[in-house]
Amino acid sequence: MIQIPRGTQDILPKDSYKWQFIEERLHEIAKNYNYKEIRTPTFESTELFVRGVGGSTDIVNKEMYTFQDKGDRSLTLKPEGTAPVVRSYIENKMQHDVVQPTKVYYMAPMFRYERKQKGRYRQFVQFGIEAIGVEDPLIDVEVISMLMHIYKSFGLKDLKLYINSIGDQNSRSAYNEALVNHFKPSIDEFCSDCQTRIDTNPMRILDCKKDRDHELIKTAPRMYDYLNDESKQYFEEVKANLDAIGIGYEVDYNLVRGLDYYTHTAFEVMSDAEGFGAITTLCGGGRYNGLLEMLDGPHETGIGFALSIERLLLALEAENIEIPEPAGIDLYICTLDDKSIERASHIVHTLRTKGISCDIDYKRRKLKAQMKDADRKGAAYTIVLGENELSTGNVELKHMGTGESKTVHLDELDTLLEEK
Ligand code: HAM
Repeated sequence: MIQIPRGTQDILPKDSYKWQFIEERLHEIAKNYNYKEIRTPTFESTELFVRGVGGSTDIVNKEMYTFQDKGDRSLTLKPEGTAPVVRSYIENKMQHDVVQPTKVYYMAPMFRYERKQKGRYRQFVQFGIEAIGVEDPLIDVEVISMLMHIYKSFGLKDLKLYINSIGDQNSRSAYNEALVNHFKPSIDEFCSDCQTRIDTNPMRILDCKKDRDHELIKTAPRMYDYLNDESKQYFEEVKANLDAIGIGYEVDYNLVRGLDYYTHTAFEVMSDAEGFGAITTLCGGGRYNGLLEMLDGPHETGIGFALSIERLLLALEAENIEIPEPAGIDLYICTLDDKSIERASHIVHTLRTKGISCDIDYKRRKLKAQMKDADRKGAAYTIVLGENELSTGNVELKHMGTGESKTVHLDELDTLLEEK
């Protein structure tokens, strides 16, 4: 038997309503904040991620689904959405659009070859937003507040928002130098990846999955102490405005994020709920001031976040929050013989075109089994069609909730159901 690829999942018909509920809510909230949807391809040039996300990140080094197409181009299934959005912004010259800044969102599958674990998939759906073309602490606050609004709108409570500032390029160079001085004498005690990272990108050592408990990670210099005045001021303004609108957060000086493009504000939301599992990050994001220029774009800056629907669902489960099941069908027509099912199939055709949801039993089971089926399909009303009903045109319209029924003519079914 051919099995589903490792790290992927089927969303079965019995569960898809949960996804639809979440997706609808996310479209709605995006609209409230005036973000418009952008759809970019599922695969992009590999170079986009190597240059955008960073050659020394785990995503690029270990986790990309990269392949050569028949024209010998190196393509990659997108592991994240920011670099593709920025590529599209640059290619479509959105800096010249009349509507400024550019505020977009996406909801699409992403692909990372990661070790399978609870909350970690090889294909997962990210909902993300990007605000490009403005550098102002207030837009950083808008992005963070939208994120918290999303989680709260689903009723989640056990959340923690962590923020940090990674500073600008100048602060970062000074910090990198401090990290090299801190780690270099004992770098032999670290994993082989970290031994490379010390030369290519020392900040990556701070979020190494293997060495996270090493004493030197705990005593590492703090980015905050290397921020220049401008970066500090930016961070203070973000915090003050989060305070002003009552968004609680904790500053985590070790938060560096796993992608290279971040500058200034960086943040993550974690779930505190018991039973959530080992991976507690629900969402991550931050500001990326150099990314557009790094991809040969204009001198514009951006900020955004992305969350996966899979982890949102896990958080809901951990906090025992149920997504409401959708209503069943309006009408189920039980049939007693071949003639009546034929007629019923014509009736449902007409009713459906008038917006009434209805079904019949193509398996032609006995009446009792059909009634059970109507119940399982959540039918609000049923009628039974037999020889008698076909000749008079009158049927008993039964309300499944109350058990009450009323004689109606087949021709008035649509108006009656529409009214109800
Ligand atoms: P990221 O931290 O790599 O950031 O991923 C963001 C979110 O995607 C994570 O917090 C998690 O919810 C989800 N996620 C990541 N990997 C997996 C996985 N294997 N299985 C399930 N969920 C996963 C980014 O991708 C940035 N592009 C975010 C961003 C947007 N920064 C600025 N704008």
